[in-house]
Amino acid sequence: MNEFLNAMPKAELHVHLEGTLEPELMFELAWRNGIALPFDSVEALTAAYQFGNLQDFLDLYYQGAAVLQTEQDFYDLTWAWLQRCHAQNVQHVEPFFDPQAHTHRGVDIGTVISGISQALYDAQKQLGISSQLIMSFLRHLDEEDAIATLNQAELWLECIAAVGLDSSEQGNPPEKFARVFELARQQGLRCVAHAGEEGPAAYVWQALDSLQVSRIDHGVRAIEDPALIQRLIEQRIPLTVCPLSNVRLQVYPHMSKHPILTLLEQGVCVTVNSDDPAYFGGYMSENFIALQRDLNLTTQQALQLAANSFEASFADPERKTQLQQQLQAFAQAHGVNLAA
Ligand code: ADE
Ligand code: ZN
Repeated sequence: MNEFLNAMPKAELHVHLEGTLEPELMFELAWRNGIALPFDSVEALTAAYQFGNLQDFLDLYYQGAAVLQTEQDFYDLTWAWLQRCHAQNVQHVEPFFDPQAHTHRGVDIGTVISGISQALYDAQKQLGISSQLIMSFLRHLDEEDAIATLNQAELWLECIAAVGLDSSEQGNPPEKFARVFELARQQGLRCVAHAGEEGPAAYVWQALDSLQVSRIDHGVRAIEDPALIQRLIEQRIPLTVCPLSNVRLQVYPHMSKHPILTLLEQGVCVTVNSDDPAYFGGYMSENFIALQRDLNLTTQQALQLAANSFEASFADPERKTQLQQQLQAFAQAHGVNLAA
């Protein structure tokens, strides 16, 4: 089954590039850029990867991201991650990046976007991985800062497919960002937002109504609100769910308590994603494998989750058809009927 899950074609729709920074690369970039890390070794760093909640993690995540300085650094980060995607047959990716985590340290937004975009371009050419890039705003900062960031990205908008909203959720409701999302929509960008990770189901409603998002990142707390679940099903609004992340950040005490398969069986368009794989113990395949181990994920459910990832993606219609066909062929080769 593990081999099946690894070889299954799939899309990654919820991953923060800064969260793919493996400890070894963090040390290498720190050395390259003459930055002192407050840890003596990879072991000492990873020993600190014990998180009581989202904020515990974010404090370490922003500290780690500070080693990223040059275009080459952003390229190396993105390329290392894309090679892992390739090894797990991830055919399409829609990563987030947090420009404010870099511009606030004096790094130009063009440095960030050009390094990332070059790696995504090379992955398309060399690995056949298609991509759409999502620029995410930090919700612990104010809306003016997000608007300034959108303006700074003006020359780079052709590299960006959508805007997102991440960082500390509690106390930073989606409606705080209604204007910047409106401005992004006017620029032709799509909208997604983290909501219902630690925050309440009300934040998912707000993301839908105030920000007009076409996808919700996490959204697992929607399960507390039957009317909201009904809306997600009727409007086929995807939830990009991150199982290992939710357990590592104590949203659920154990994977066996995770509601992803309940949501799937209710008819919600849920997808499996890795969020911050370098910090949470796994990339795409490891997330699927954890569901199989602790929730008895079936091959049929795994295929449905992969099909959902293609459906929920921002890939153009021709690419979507191609991806769905790849999955069909994979299912058939394994004697499973995808449509059943
Ligand atoms: N930034 C990186 N990972 C995040 C998460 N899981 N939630 C909110 N913001 C994030
Ligand atoms: Zn996330």
